[in-house]
Amino acid sequence: MAATRSSESLDSQFYQSADEFFPAQVRTALTYDDLTLATLYSEVLPRETHLDTQLADSLHLHIPAISADMDTVTESRMAIAMALNGGLGLIHYNMPERQQLSEVSRVKNHVHGLIQDPIKVTPDQLIGDVLALIEEKKFGFSTFPVVDEKGKLVGLLSGHVVKPRYAKKKISEALTPRAQVHTITKKELGRDPITRADKFFTEHIGIHKLIVVDDDDHLHGLITMSDVERIAQERKAQFKPARDANHHLVCGAAISATRNAFGELDREKILAHVGALVERGVDVVAVSTAHGHTKGVGDTVRMLRDAFPKLPIIAGNVTSAAGVEFLANAGANAIKVGQGPGSICTTRIVAGVGIPQMTALYVCSRAAKKHKVSILADGGITKSGDIVKALTLANAVICGGIFAGCNEAPGDVMEIGGKIYKQYRGMGSFAAMKAGSAARYGHSANSTQKVAAEGIEALKEVVGSVDRVLAQLIGGIQSGMGYLGAANLAQLREKARYIRVSPAGLKEAAPHDVVELKTGN
Ligand code: XMP
Repeated sequence: MAATRSSESLDSQFYQSADEFFPAQVRTALTYDDLTLATLYSEVLPRETHLDTQLADSLHLHIPAISADMDTVTESRMAIAMALNGGLGLIHYNMPERQQLSEVSRVKNHVHGLIQDPIKVTPDQLIGDVLALIEEKKFGFSTFPVVDEKGKLVGLLSGHVVKPRYAKKKISEALTPRAQVHTITKKELGRDPITRADKFFTEHIGIHKLIVVDDDDHLHGLITMSDVERIAQERKAQFKPARDANHHLVCGAAISATRNAFGELDREKILAHVGALVERGVDVVAVSTAHGHTKGVGDTVRMLRDAFPKLPIIAGNVTSAAGVEFLANAGANAIKVGQGPGSICTTRIVAGVGIPQMTALYVCSRAAKKHKVSILADGGITKSGDIVKALTLANAVICGGIFAGCNEAPGDVMEIGGKIYKQYRGMGSFAAMKAGSAARYGHSANSTQKVAAEGIEALKEVVGSVDRVLAQLIGGIQSGMGYLGAANLAQLREKARYIRVSPAGLKEAAPHDVVELKTGN
């Protein structure tokens, strides 16, 4: 219901739009916890809100969330999980170029429910070897395709023969021979492999695994009935996977502004790298550096724009309007905003440089509007409320720490004091720079000079699947939009009203004066 004039003017004295609020704080840089959003009259139910965001003409996401291009956050497993949930993963570049290309291929060729590289065994192995493998890797399954040295299917080792009593028998003696194994070809799976596999399992009582082969009978993958059933359930979910025009999951890849032995931009190498990524079907490349308002990054973006006119380009990082303008003029479509807010970052401590996120986002968003580019709020997000605040100014958020504890993040788990952790490190940490990310921070990986690390190595507690983490975050974003009466992200940006929070107000915002039994998750 419309408010009366007097109550509206009273509200607007305190709760101000971005263009009133931020210029009024001109001498202070603010971040997420420094401000809060005011509620507004709403007819919008959280579950009815739309989170779609357009980052470039050909890059559309169903949720505004991107996993960071960090070597402890995004490889193919994370990128697949992000895209399946409607978001995007940026594959990091701290790996040989060939490996990055195959990570991208894995995402682009991912068929939901198809295990692309199933664990396989060979006929000359012993059942005892398989039992040892199951024990070592803690596999929860015991049926394996059997292949010859060329990868051709020769049979199936069924779980009911993988028993200690047969430990000394060869797999060749125990396998179900090829002629009796049910298979399907890649072609037969068609455009909707899940529906096809679902039909197969209904028609073949008692069979729980379907092996996929190519035309020459090489093992191509495996589909399990339990995965098919889970996916059929998920299809009813509100947010659809983010796919390209050919129905493949979207995938991004980070690249660095590599220099040659003479310290010049290695144009040939960069162009060949991006050309190969494009061939693999990459949907967006991110020129990822700590300081994007530099000649090297500008030249790289310009060169890529000329060579690949239609390829969406993300570039960064910047925290100024001039930085946004510079990268937009060079040809970037989406610009990463954030210098030093990340949970593993020490840029502000080491270099004394960087701007708290909300002020940086405001300044950059106004330049972005003028130059018709998107901005991505990169780093510093620890809770869904931060994302709602970021999205009042940005088109999407990039998160590292929030996803680093997920099952899909690279790296092994470790147990300390009964809790399970995963490693999470800054790309500007010594260890990550040594592994290849030095160029991102303007250093040489082989440098004998002393360089200052701008990130730390840390641990994140394991939090389960990306699905679970995103469900919590999305629930929070939708709730925020409901409070503001915003049915979509454009309305959220338009409607947001801000006010500063005092230290006591911040304390009031978290649970207090109680003994907490359970967190909200
Ligand atoms: P969160 O807070 O999500 O931040 O963990 C992830 C973002 O942090 C940036 N990043 C770094 N910044 N030193 C920095 O100053 C580093 O070593 C570093 N590593 C990552 C990056 O923008 C990422 O998306």
